[in-house]
Amino acid sequence: MTMKLKTDKLKVGFVGLRRGGGLVRSFAGHPRVEIAALCDLDTNSMSKMAGDFALNDQQLFTNFDDFVNAPIDIVVIATPIEFHANQSIAALESGKHVLCEQTAAYTLEDCERLVQAVRKTDRVYMMGENYCYFHYIREWKKIIQQGKLGKIVHAEGEYLHEIVDLLIDPQTGKHRWRYTRAPIWYCAHCLGPLLTLMDDRIVKATGVHSGKNIYPDEGLGFLDMEVGLFQTQKGSTIKILRSQVAPRHPEMIFYSLYGTKGFVENGREGGWGGTKGRLYIEGEMAKHPGAQVFDCPTIDVNAPAEALQGGHGTSEYYMVRDFIDAIDNHTQSPIDVARAMDFTVPGICAHEAAMKGGVWVDVPLF
Ligand SMILES: NC(=O)c1ccc[n+]([C@@H]2O[C@H](COP(=O)([O-])OP(=O)(O)OC[C@H]3O[C@@H](n4cnc5c(N)ncnc54)[C@H](O)[C@@H]3O)[C@@H](O)[C@H]2O)c1
Repeated sequence: MTMKLKTDKLKVGFVGLRRGGGLVRSFAGHPRVEIAALCDLDTNSMSKMAGDFALNDQQLFTNFDDFVNAPIDIVVIATPIEFHANQSIAALESGKHVLCEQTAAYTLEDCERLVQAVRKTDRVYMMGENYCYFHYIREWKKIIQQGKLGKIVHAEGEYLHEIVDLLIDPQTGKHRWRYTRAPIWYCAHCLGPLLTLMDDRIVKATGVHSGKNIYPDEGLGFLDMEVGLFQTQKGSTIKILRSQVAPRHPEMIFYSLYGTKGFVENGREGGWGGTKGRLYIEGEMAKHPGAQVFDCPTIDVNAPAEALQGGHGTSEYYMVRDFIDAIDNHTQSPIDVARAMDFTVPGICAHEAAMKGGVWVDVPLF
């Protein structure tokens, strides 16, 4: 395999261009990157994007097998989750570095195959859990790493996002891939940032759901609410609440972390721009009135203007930089395959536990 000089541009190809569109724009803003190929079954959206980057017909693909063998260095995968494992493995085996959307896979067998594929190659794999890069999460990390909250003993996450139109096409009534996606399978947006802040892993999981009261006759994706309860390797506890159908508007992503010396949480106002959070540090703040209210923005105002291209504050900007740095420096990415499993596997186990009536299951560590 030829070694790239740092002055050479890295050629990047993208498969799946809906969410993937935000990733194309985020990569395009990186000085080391050349947008070199696109792949999607939908030729309309692909042609439009090709025009933005002056790509010719040889750089556009509807067939993944042809795309993955194109002359590119990096494959960015943003297709439905059922394709992630096979497409990541094929890309790694054809010598490409991979950034794959979350979650990494739907089944433990696919997770195992993916881990083996990454270990067999010398390529960089990263799971694109961009919520770890929200500006306020990066700021909380500094507070927690300084030990200001003591040991984190309990954390909670809530991701409530009504996306019924993404489960059933409102025009045709056709079921989309999320129709059968159990809510807690998709808990990496909560678990990723929490485990990053706690520097911890999940070892046991259980789950429970409230059934289908809102949409009684639909698929697994329509469980009203699903809760995952987790035990970590360091002995802490985590609770995560998920729904993709409950009428909770605006949508909300919420995190709280309780330490031996204080707590931090963002607000439940919802929306993507940022909320008012609360921070209490014992010894630094008075017990009355207690926590200080502070801003929790998703955007880092010190980042350049192009850092907003990804769609979720400045999260994609920093994520893409970490990924390219790992390639340039021949290091593991911050969300390498083991970490991707830490964020993916507990959700699979919690749903399995919920379907068995709330038993506890051991979560395999990869
Ligand atoms: N990190 C985030 O903030 C975030 C946000 C939204 C979606 N996502 C993730 O991004 C991924 C895609 O989600 P989406 O909402 O864009 O899904 P989507 O179904 O709306 O779009 C998927 C796109 O992939 C294309 N596609 C499907 N199968 C393909 C194949 N085999 N080969 C080539 N193209 C194919 C479709 O034509 C479509 O354009 C999922 O993994 C989802 O979890 C992440």
